[in-house]
Amino acid sequence: MTKPAILVTRAIFPEVLIKLSQHFDVESNQDDVIWSPQELAQRLQGKVAAFMTGTERVNAELLALCGQLKLCANMTVGYNNFDLAAMTSAGVLGTNAPDVLTETTADFGFALLMATARRVTESEHFLRAGKWTRWSYDMFSGAEVHGTTLGIVGMGRIGQAIARRAALGFGMQVIYHNRSRLDAATEASFHARYVGKEELLQTADHVMLVLPYSASSHHTIGAAELALMKPTATLINLARGGIVDDAALAEALRHKRIAAAGLDVFEGEPAVHPALLTVPNVVLTPHIASATEGTRRAMAALAVDNLIGFLVNGKAVTPLNPEVLARVGA
Ligand code: DGY
Repeated sequence: MTKPAILVTRAIFPEVLIKLSQHFDVESNQDDVIWSPQELAQRLQGKVAAFMTGTERVNAELLALCGQLKLCANMTVGYNNFDLAAMTSAGVLGTNAPDVLTETTADFGFALLMATARRVTESEHFLRAGKWTRWSYDMFSGAEVHGTTLGIVGMGRIGQAIARRAALGFGMQVIYHNRSRLDAATEASFHARYVGKEELLQTADHVMLVLPYSASSHHTIGAAELALMKPTATLINLARGGIVDDAALAEALRHKRIAAAGLDVFEGEPAVHPALLTVPNVVLTPHIASATEGTRRAMAALAVDNLIGFLVNGKAVTPLNPEVLARVGA
């Protein structure tokens, strides 16, 4: 019997290809070539599904060219590369990879917060440049983390994992803003207080962004919001590029309207706004919050489970638009 044909769009752990090949005729991309939308559409010809890495745009134009496609399985929790409405109307299921990266990403949130507040990269650059000639009482004095107020914008799984670390590990007061309020027991488990966005920005010593990207969260933080923050505050973006207006942030950092920022995601990444590269009070990392080997393997494995689950057993593990399943009777 011929196996269904699928596409793996980017380089991935060999074990992923071995497992998928047991069920499917797999076209892979272990040279990790970045395909244009036209090349992607061409590679998808005759394929019923794709293993994706969250960076490939799946929109109405692509779907119109790929009539056989039934499933796009992201190995990431974020899925702003999917136009879910277009996928649903084309009868294409989208899946993502939630939960498996929550704790690892929350760990990184703290790594970035600590590095930013305590000026870790800035001081390391100073040392590497041979500028360290003596100890002095005020050299690279940074902001306190323990016992301060952390404002979390977006209180999903990752936001909650960060809140637990903050309250239970660092004795921080946690305030948060989210589309919906958590139940009282969950709030109490990390002593979190729900506040409006304005109050959060005005009150927090550190602001951590972990909300999903959508048209409505575009530029959640721009010049007006930065102006509300304390001049001593830090801003951490772990969420997605586009949630922060990076040009406005670079300007605010240059003029010390806020003390510092830590960014793992950027508008238009992998490009980084050039002004951010010239200000010292920002820690920049290349979208690595979930990057531990164990977590990346777990993310890839969940995408594999979604592909096999849906195409072989008729049941996806983490469907994003389950209305498509109802339509195909899965
Ligand atoms: C995700 O899973 O959405 C992350 O941003 C990728 O590491």
